Amino acid sequence: MAVIIDGRAAALKLQDRLKARLAALRERGIVPSLAVILVGENPASLSYVGAKEKALAEAGMGSRDFRLPEAATQGELLSLIAELNADPLIHGILVQLPLPPHISEDSVIAAIDPAKDVDGFHPVSMGNLVLGRPGFLPCTPHGVLVLLRDYGIPLAGAHAVILGRSNIVGRPLANLLARREQNATVTLCHTGTRDLASITRQADILIAAVGKPGLVTADMIKEGAAVIDVGVNRVPDPRAKKGYRLRGDVDFEGLVQKTSFISPVPGGVGPMTIAMLLQNVAQAAEGVFHG
Ligand code: GUN
Repeated sequence: MAVIIDGRAAALKLQDRLKARLAALRERGIVPSLAVILVGENPASLSYVGAKEKALAEAGMGSRDFRLPEAATQGELLSLIAELNADPLIHGILVQLPLPPHISEDSVIAAIDPAKDVDGFHPVSMGNLVLGRPGFLPCTPHGVLVLLRDYGIPLAGAHAVILGRSNIVGRPLANLLARREQNATVTLCHTGTRDLASITRQADILIAAVGKPGLVTADMIKEGAAVIDVGVNRVPDPRAKKGYRLRGDVDFEGLVQKTSFISPVPGGVGPMTIAMLLQNVAQAAEGVFHG
């Protein structure tokens, strides 16, 4: 029977540790503040943005909320980012993804001042990550890493198999786990991977970040593997108040007996993403990274 990873408790611990840094900033008259930009009304994005703003408020940090209509132009979004780049009271800028298809995510991310890139998505941040230099780490991969460390899951020499090569999770996480500090051997699987199960069965640590509910089943893992589920999928559920429930990329019930550690959805990686965002906003306010 697996240890069920408690992401909420781990996130609270981090938020507690952040308090001293926030107090030191307050003494210097600084309230770390994040500009949150949401274009359109994607229901999942609305819920993520709400959760981030709530966490910032609870931590005594600032947030300024910018809601743009779905029809907003790329030019309008770029002008807003230019204004926020120049605003000394704004330490971090977060543009919630995905953006509507008529806006280039690459152009928008590249327009953010790397010193305010608390999502860690800017090519400068991503380059620093790959090169093993200091810089903002993307929140979800960083959260996964901290969970693995907190639960004492051995990384050095372990075979970590990651499902999904997104810029937000899989790609940066593969690089983080392969760093000398972690020393894992990493396999990054994607839609072009042949015979996926033969690879996942070799995993000491399996991390699923593909957005396919219940993709990973018990027959795909080896006994005693640690499994981290990054997927957050809304599946219809007529018994649920909202008409849907959240389900991860992993068949939790099927895997719980066979794994050594498993993270649930919700309550696993999600709260860690938010905790890492708060850390990055504090770091931006401390002025540690200048891009
Ligand atoms: N969309 C899904 N995850 C994220 C995230 O961590 N940051 C932003 N900006 N958008 C997202």
